[in-house]
Amino acid sequence: MNMPLKVKLVDVGPRDGLQNEKQPVPASVKVELVHRLQAAGLKDIEVTSFVSPKWVPQMGDNAQVMAQIQRQAGVRYSVLTPNMKGMEAALAAPRDQWPDEIVVFAAASEAFSQRNINCSIAESIERFRPVCEAALAHNIAIRGAISCAMACPYEGEIAPERVGMVARLLKGIGVQHVGVADTIGVATPLKTQRALDAALGIYDINDVSGHFHDTYGQALGNTLIALQMGVWQFDTSVAGLGGCPYAKGATGNVASEDVVYMLHGMGIETGIDLDKLIDAGKFISDFLDRKPNSRAATAVLNKRAG
Ligand code: HMG
Ligand code: MG
Repeated sequence: MNMPLKVKLVDVGPRDGLQNEKQPVPASVKVELVHRLQAAGLKDIEVTSFVSPKWVPQMGDNAQVMAQIQRQAGVRYSVLTPNMKGMEAALAAPRDQWPDEIVVFAAASEAFSQRNINCSIAESIERFRPVCEAALAHNIAIRGAISCAMACPYEGEIAPERVGMVARLLKGIGVQHVGVADTIGVATPLKTQRALDAALGIYDINDVSGHFHDTYGQALGNTLIALQMGVWQFDTSVAGLGGCPYAKGATGNVASEDVVYMLHGMGIETGIDLDKLIDAGKFISDFLDRKPNSRAATAVLNKRAG
């Protein structure tokens, strides 16, 4: 088995997590969450997205959040940029507030592409092309997401060939890394393996990550099978926050705390302090007035209380 000894987690809680929250979350709380995540040892944080505030009002304070975070050396801060308008907004700030990495997000399903970013898959690639050119020109890393890589809320099951097709299109415009996303959290391990395999037909093992929502409680199993394939990078969300406003019924990403607990239990290094991560999850959950959606966090918090 090719199990990695080290795993990199990108905490997408401030972006994927909070984008789906109806109640306004002040920029200061988002900034504090980023600070707590980096204090817990996260080296990759997806901070916000430069999308239309009419579509996703919660991310409307993107520039403010990017301006207010106190950056820590060695941490990579990423943002979503679906088009040049978003890229220009991300670059309008002083250079020290630029993202280190941008994320363009395509879908393996035409229907989801239309609902999420209001264009076809082919059109989305044309919109991303100048975004990638600008990122390369400014020395900013480029990650791509492939949404609905296993299933789509509108089209149902998605064939792995579609993941391969989108991965090829993304590679063609200079995207350096792809995240294979189970947007609605319905995939089971073998389906996950097939989708990852399709991406691995185009991208190197070091340039593919898993992004698993946990609606049906399968995300840890999906993470394990990905690890067995040698995949060592995952997007996870503190306190299991998350969901996409254009994927009804989908719940959050797999909780970072649960993945860290599993990895450490397997002797796999993450560089993350689980206790501090749990504190970060508790902080944002308290603000949202709910319990962290993480079994590991719940267990540790009960133990601390008890
Ligand atoms: P559009 O309406 O097709 O864009 O939206 P447009 O170019 O026709 O412009 C329409 C209006 O939007 C104009 O304003 C533009 O200025 C404005 P108006 O003249 O009407 O006042 N606009 C923008 N404003 C700010 N920032 C921008 C921007 N672009 C246009 N970047 C667009 C296209 C992509 C913008 C829109 O569909 C959108 O914002 N969608 C939101 C998508 C989103 O954020 N989804 C959630 C994140 S993806 C996700 O969660 C999946 C992921 O986690 C992986 C997984 O789990 O699958 C990554
Ligand atoms: Mg997502």
